[in-house]
Amino acid sequence: MAILVTGGVGFIGSHTVVELQNAGYDVVILDNLCNASPKVIDRIEAITGKKAPFYKVDIRDRKGLEEIFAKEKIDSCIHFAGLKAVGESVQKPLEYYDNNISGTLTLLEVMRENGCKNIIFSSSATVYGDPAFVPITEECPKGVCTNPYGWTKSMLEQIMTDMQKADPEWNVVLLRYFNPIGAHKSGTMGENPNGIPNNLMPYITQVAVGIREELGVFGNDYDTPDGTGVRDYIHVVDLALGHVKALKKIEENAGLSIYNLGTGQGYSVLEVVHNFEEASGVKIPYSIRPRREGDIATCYADASKAKAELGWEAQYGIKEMCEDSWRWQKNNPNGYDE
Ligand code: NAD
Ligand code: UFG
Repeated sequence: MAILVTGGVGFIGSHTVVELQNAGYDVVILDNLCNASPKVIDRIEAITGKKAPFYKVDIRDRKGLEEIFAKEKIDSCIHFAGLKAVGESVQKPLEYYDNNISGTLTLLEVMRENGCKNIIFSSSATVYGDPAFVPITEECPKGVCTNPYGWTKSMLEQIMTDMQKADPEWNVVLLRYFNPIGAHKSGTMGENPNGIPNNLMPYITQVAVGIREELGVFGNDYDTPDGTGVRDYIHVVDLALGHVKALKKIEENAGLSIYNLGTGQGYSVLEVVHNFEEASGVKIPYSIRPRREGDIATCYADASKAKAELGWEAQYGIKEMCEDSWRWQKNNPNGYDE
């Protein structure tokens, strides 16, 4: 039996495929490559020595999905496929709702038709909105999202919760990621944003490698120790390993489970910059800019539920996250493009 990994060519998906294969699972990869390079598939194979069947299929393509289920013996699905650019989602809400929500509904229907009722879903700390308290536990009420991307995560959580309640044969694990950064130790796989990076770490690494001149720090007047935003950065390999552990819940027929995947430790923008400078030996010029719309001051996880129930805990600290992000960018200044 195999695990279907949708979005398996993307940043988090590709690292998860590696850890699943390392743990002995058979993997089938689906991706429409709208935000990923096909070269990733070879890089995965070079690391693990295993070839996973790959299908270039869109999750909104019912026929394409049906063909995969007819050909492969799929037991569970880890569902990463989705659009994730916050700013773009404000400009193109219908495209985001269509891709993320219609796509997931089609996937769930085809899974059900084929008797496959196990899913691990990529959710986000964004569902907490401006969190009612920190560190954020899973009991923290979901909040008001500030953009359509965030709403797709919040709504899909609700859809899968309702689905599981109506049909308890489903096992659903909702994983709320905090801020994934870092890259595979080999330096051959990492984050590969299109155009100007929206997120902090890829922006920093592009400044370090000379693609961008300076980092803009969005606000230094937040109610945080140095005034810049505080986030819970988590190494992408730790996040990947969290999915391998989450499969346990599926194997136990646990019904619905929700976990935060973070380290429990917050770092400010300037702390990340300083840690990166130390890890890379490269100075990162920056200037303070106005706050970015929709940003919150502080967001970090209480990750004790995942430790207690999944036996999962982040192993890597900020130093390794910076070292590994830097190794990836330095070895691949243009990402997966030559
Ligand atoms: P990514 O863009 O690198 O990966 C997503 C993959 O899905 C891409 O390879 C893309 O080509 C594919 N895809 C998109 N729409 C598709 C469709 N309709 N059909 C088939 N494939 C499709 O992003 P990522 O950072 O690896 O994120 C993976 C998941 O985790 C996403 O659902 C994202 O929303 C979620 N997430 C990411 C973060 C983050 O900061 N990176 C934080 C929280 C949650
Ligand atoms: N920041 C800058 N300059 C930049 C980019 C970011 O100062 O060029 C700051 C932000 O203001 C924020 C921090 O760096 O304080 C982190 O910003 P990111 O854009 O890297 O991450 P966010 O916390 O805003 O959002 C990310 C994902 C969301 C996800 C959320 C929680 O982009 O999709 O983490 O998981 F929902």
